[in-house]
Amino acid sequence: MTEAIETGTAADLVRRPGLTPQDGLVLEIEDLVVQHRRERSRELFTAVDHVSLSIGPGESMGVVGESGSGKTTLAMAATALGAPGTGTIRLLGRDLRSLKRAELRALRPEVQVVFQDPHGSLDPRQSVRSGFKELRALQPRRTDWIDDEDLVGRVRLAPDLLDRYPHQLSGGQAQRVCIARALMMRPRLIVADEPTSGLDVSVQADVLELLREARRTTGASMLFISHDLAVVRSICQRVVVMYRGAVVEQGDAEQVFARPRHDYTRRLLAAMPGSRWRAGR
Ligand SMILES: Nc1ncnc2c1ncn2[C@@H]1O[C@H](COP(=O)(O)OP(=O)(O)OP(=O)(O)O)[C@@H](O)[C@H]1O
Ligand SMILES: [Mg+2]
Repeated sequence: MTEAIETGTAADLVRRPGLTPQDGLVLEIEDLVVQHRRERSRELFTAVDHVSLSIGPGESMGVVGESGSGKTTLAMAATALGAPGTGTIRLLGRDLRSLKRAELRALRPEVQVVFQDPHGSLDPRQSVRSGFKELRALQPRRTDWIDDEDLVGRVRLAPDLLDRYPHQLSGGQAQRVCIARALMMRPRLIVADEPTSGLDVSVQADVLELLREARRTTGASMLFISHDLAVVRSICQRVVVMYRGAVVEQGDAEQVFARPRHDYTRRLLAAMPGSRWRAGR
């Protein structure tokens, strides 16, 4: 089982029961609309506005846009935790809206989310080791688990960290544990929502490298949300640019960043240090 993860290429996908790269898209979102209620007025507003996108096997898709543009709302729609709003969300070819509760539960391990605040996603009452154990217990019939020491090694943590509790971990260490937990499930899709923006600058590059590696070794696709366009450019093949809930531009990351079509994308790029773009050009 170790070998399957380490070789982690398209061939790794083929080895997984019932799934091959030819199976088609990992995530397909069509015409998704998600509304929230404003806290004070209770008025409905559209947080995700007729968004369509798709992610193929092994593909990495970046989502950029200013705060409040709907990135997290969009990402959460794809996590098999439910199917909010209207429109179609297909995960591994299955329409989330048509699935029964048990079917959704079975699909859930295929999507793993790495959040901005690693401490917030770990149970404070559980050591790293017992957290891993609990995850394994969710899939009692599975036998291809990576063992604890191997797992922490993959995220470059020492084995003695296994017996620590979240409050005894630095932000960077806690995020590595979250990545290890994601790796352990061998997901088909990793959703990373600002995975480094809560971390000390000195560890951000290492955590990004681990995510890159996680994708490479598991063959998982990735939906990667970030304010940092340079990071998206370095990690993603494709990108969608969101503005006020809508996708204003999407395509090959290199092309979008080299030749942005939409003025909003130019403005985002202009805000990058050393950018040659000027807003309004
Ligand atoms: N559960 C919720 N209830 C009500 N409004 C919400 C809820 N979640 C998000 N919103 C609102 O929906 C809009 C989109 O929020 P979302 O969190 O998706 O944006 P974002 O692009 O992820 O922002 P950020 O970059 O700050 O994380 C915002 O106006 C936000 O305040
Ligand atoms: Mg967000």
